[in-house]
Amino acid sequence: MRPIPFDGIAMGCDYNPEQWPPPVWREDVALMREAGVGFVTLGVFSWALLEPEPGRYDFDWLDEVLGLLHEGGIAVDMATATASPPPWLTTAHPEVLPVDAAGRTLWPGSRQSWCPSSPLFRKHALRLVEQLARRYGSHPAVRLWHVSNELGCHVGKCWCDVSAAAFRRWLATRYGTVEALNEAWGTSFWSQRYGSFDEVLPPRLTPAIPNPTHELDFARFSSDELLGYYRAERDLLRELSPDVPVTTNLMVTSHQSEQDYFSWAADLDLVAQDHYLDARLPHPYAEQAFCADLTRGVAGGAPWLLMESAPSAVNWQPVNRAKRPGELLLDSLRHVARGADAVGFFQWRASLAGAEKFHSALVPHAGPDSARFREVSALGDALRRLGEVAGSRVRADVALLHDWEAEWACDLGSHPSSQVRYLDAGLRWHRAVTELGATADVVHPSADLSAYRLVIVPTLYLCSDATAAALEAYVRGGGHVLVTYFSGIVDENDHIRPGGYPGAFRELLGVRTEEFAPLLPGEFVSLDDGSTADTWTELLTVTDAEVVARYADGPLPGTPALTRRAVGAGTAWYLATWLDETATAELADRLTREAGVVRLGPGGGVEVVRRGRYLFVLNRGPVAAVVRAHGVDLLSGRDVAESVIVSGGCAAVVRQDEA
Ligand code: GAL
Repeated sequence: MRPIPFDGIAMGCDYNPEQWPPPVWREDVALMREAGVGFVTLGVFSWALLEPEPGRYDFDWLDEVLGLLHEGGIAVDMATATASPPPWLTTAHPEVLPVDAAGRTLWPGSRQSWCPSSPLFRKHALRLVEQLARRYGSHPAVRLWHVSNELGCHVGKCWCDVSAAAFRRWLATRYGTVEALNEAWGTSFWSQRYGSFDEVLPPRLTPAIPNPTHELDFARFSSDELLGYYRAERDLLRELSPDVPVTTNLMVTSHQSEQDYFSWAADLDLVAQDHYLDARLPHPYAEQAFCADLTRGVAGGAPWLLMESAPSAVNWQPVNRAKRPGELLLDSLRHVARGADAVGFFQWRASLAGAEKFHSALVPHAGPDSARFREVSALGDALRRLGEVAGSRVRADVALLHDWEAEWACDLGSHPSSQVRYLDAGLRWHRAVTELGATADVVHPSADLSAYRLVIVPTLYLCSDATAAALEAYVRGGGHVLVTYFSGIVDENDHIRPGGYPGAFRELLGVRTEEFAPLLPGEFVSLDDGSTADTWTELLTVTDAEVVARYADGPLPGTPALTRRAVGAGTAWYLATWLDETATAELADRLTREAGVVRLGPGGGVEVVRRGRYLFVLNRGPVAAVVRAHGVDLLSGRDVAESVIVSGGCAAVVRQDEA
């Protein structure tokens, strides 16, 4: 990964000057300087203005804006402007529009209405990219290229005939022969055997349950297809603007999981991420922390760029919750603590018209004479003080495995319980660990695990033999691992691993399950250690493990629910139920203690993360927190002798004397 190409820990934002008359642009640049804006993302949705008719371009306004920004010392993340096609393109060529699984066209009138496999869309988009790259590829203000926007947002999959043909080509490459496809998809079932690739369609709306491997492969194909699109723009940019790094803004978030970003990472010059706090979630800050740790995992541990977040309200949620005073700083530092080397926002000035006019902005409708703008300026000042943190790396003792393919497969229909959602387990276990004051990396199952004291494997329904072997080697070498229920069930083709669950991990864990016994919504079960669980139980026997807790009631009283096996120099735990939050926290406490995981803070609402020699302390709670540290608090400039005292709702970033 290349370093984030802005100075220090920069504050930035999406800038959409096309929504405003030119006199406002000058005021914008002056206000950006006042607030401490170091970079802007420019032109994301400006195709229709830049190319008002096919092949006729108007760059004059953009030249002027770039000039003003450059004069103002503001770096530019230059968008390729291809995110939303102009009406002339979709009118002349409606075949570029995406089609859903029921065969319905998704019409223009909103944004991002294009089929990822359309060669015609790509041709027109690349023509614009070429113009932009030639014109601005060596402009001194341009430090980064921003391909499209949130590829896959709104349209991550398309079921049209063009996509169908692309899917068949992808399958032919993956399988070579149609016999191999039939084998992988288990098409002997329900008379689905294909005679040739030409007979295969995308998984369109069917009368009954679709073939799950067909669906899984379509998810893989769709992720690859958008990556292919990204590569096409990237290659052109590299050719015409070789000195400027290229990226696109990912959406590592719990409500969007259609791209396997681990497989995208090698093609990104740096990882950029968009994250919006979701007030609908039970624990929005925990989800934010999880996504930040996962973004760092995608970046292979390298610093990353928070491209977009919300300064306050998010209009696409049912209730547009405003950030409370002080929240902006803590939310932004949560990203920085977890590896972000810049903090971007959507957007600079709140729009007066259009679908996002009620989305918050750095300059609200009220104007710069507002508490929001003053808080933004204070954030700009705080980030400026943290400049020296840039480039440092987060240190974590715990790894939590995450795999988008496992998520896609786990969340397909017709499973033992629709209550089991892949991400729920990852989020709950990540929160349990971080609330203890420990730090977790969220990494792919193929990551090198050797440096971690504890590895958590939440609901890894689909897993390869290689993953199972790597975990076994990790434990034998002295590692501690926790596997939670519905893991290791199927191989990469979504075929059951027979002989008893949890298939791939049966031997490592020393257990064997004959039958699942999921619970109905509202049903609970008690364990004999006093904890409470719901959603899941299973008929588990131990073959070579110690029983730590059993179900005390429910469908399987007396059956093991939590087991532990000493393996080589390490320990392998299996949790066969869905513990409630309190019991999860207690188990996390025990596991982290036994594994010797370092806790940097008191936990709870006090988030403590270490980046290189910098200790971030974010106190979400109402009362002051005391955390051991020695050095200088970069935010206040005060010396810290033994410990730093952080008032409720405040933060400290201590440059520690010793690394
Ligand atoms: C992002 C998008 C922005 C803006 C923002 C609002 O997904 O990239 O253009 O729409 O959401 O939250």
